[in-house]
Amino acid sequence: MRATAIAPANIALIKYWGKRDAALNLPLNDSISLNLSAAATTTTVEFVDQLADEMRINGQDISGAELEKISRHLDLIAAKLGVERARARMSSSNSFPTASGIASSASGFAALTAAAVSALGHELPEKELSILARRGSGSACRSIPDGFVKWNRGHADNDSFAYSLYPANYWAIRDVVAIFGQEKKKVSSSAGHEIAATSPLLPCRVRFVERSIGEIEQSLADRDFTKFGTILESDGLNMHAVMLTSRPAIMYWQPETVALMHQVYDWRRSGLEAYFTIDAGPNVHVICQEKDAADCRAKLAVFPGVREIIENVPAQGVRLTAAEPGF
Ligand code: PMV
Repeated sequence: MRATAIAPANIALIKYWGKRDAALNLPLNDSISLNLSAAATTTTVEFVDQLADEMRINGQDISGAELEKISRHLDLIAAKLGVERARARMSSSNSFPTASGIASSASGFAALTAAAVSALGHELPEKELSILARRGSGSACRSIPDGFVKWNRGHADNDSFAYSLYPANYWAIRDVVAIFGQEKKKVSSSAGHEIAATSPLLPCRVRFVERSIGEIEQSLADRDFTKFGTILESDGLNMHAVMLTSRPAIMYWQPETVALMHQVYDWRRSGLEAYFTIDAGPNVHVICQEKDAADCRAKLAVFPGVREIIENVPAQGVRLTAAEPGF
């Protein structure tokens, strides 16, 4: 009745912003992502004979809404497996600093789902794990499969899941993340998804994004880095255009974020081929080829406001592991 799983965070190259169904986390559009090697969550779940669920994240006991959300997810998993569940003890820790502004919900719900299914004595196909992880946090479904991943938006609960397009070792690109933010983000992604529909640009984004999906899939098939980078950078900005034109507007960028975007343009003009993408926060993911990673890292290390740099290679998806953090 006890299992541990480790799952990577992922960075969307074609973004998910806006839901068709908020309860089921069904997205408006397909998305494509890359699993991150240096940002993972390890989670142990144990079902025990006690009165209440007991949970800890990075060594801190959690309670209230945070605990309830995870308890509900465990209820959902047990219901799906058709079993009664006992109370749970859960311990989860991130390989990246919690205050870094890297979202832990994708890796967190992916690891939680795999650990809980196994602790209940079951094994599920990857597709079913992805569907369950999606219910915890949409982007978590993309942290289940290996490497370069596509989430098909689907039409209903049972066909909205992610699968691997290519394994982690398919293409040695890098995601060098410049961490600016330390505070908790001001607008949660759930709140953001909800107001996406107030942006007049959203219908345009949804129509356009299918084309970007096709193009980025082709660039992956060809390992065409210039095309790949151009499309992912453009789609990130496209999502932020929706955020910026929502009512109320959401601006996740800080002055340093914008300064670094300009810097990346300058790098490209001077022959360093790097592209940026930004999620629901101020941090900038700089995507480059393996040969340029050291150069990008060195440049970011002296960029004003960068508090930390996290360099990622493409990573495998969720897996069970024997290593267990202490309760
Ligand atoms: O899974 P959520 O609800 O945290 O949404 C993730 C939204 C973005 O990170 C901004 C984009 C994405 O596709 O991951």
